[in-house]
Amino acid sequence: MKLVFVCLGNICRSPLAEGIAREYVREMGYDFEVDSAGISGSHRGEAPHRLSQHVAKEMGIDISGFKSSQVSPYMDGDYFIAMDMSNFNDLLRLGIPKQKVLKIGDYGLDGRDVPDPYYGGVDGFYQVRDMLKIAIKNLCDELARES
Ligand code: 4NP
Repeated sequence: MKLVFVCLGNICRSPLAEGIAREYVREMGYDFEVDSAGISGSHRGEAPHRLSQHVAKEMGIDISGFKSSQVSPYMDGDYFIAMDMSNFNDLLRLGIPKQKVLKIGDYGLDGRDVPDPYYGGVDGFYQVRDMLKIAIKNLCDELARES
């Protein structure tokens, strides 16, 4: 099973989600592949935002080697997990089948969007990290139970 975390730029939220999920899947021994991508291609090839790298590193997770890529309907993936409602709607608009598109907020976050931290300071990145830790555990445990 392959999970693809999706945000707008693939430099702040979804690379952090990918890093946290890779670590969780490894710890739990789940047989999942994990990737991430962005709706926009405007940061293609870039490393994650320095503050995403920073908050990941504090958890012992190294995401410095990740490179931003743009999502495409031809991309391999069983589930495309949107960080917010705008990403969710964009994934559907791109033609990704509805049953493959999930919203991270539906996994223990009361449906809330994971807010874009790009224009703020480090506090926004900590908020994103805390939300992702909860939701990724719930998401992966649920998918593992179903598979
Ligand atoms: P992300 O954050 O979607 O979490 O990677 C953003 C990164 C870049 C931009 C917006 C959000 N941008 O407008 O360039």
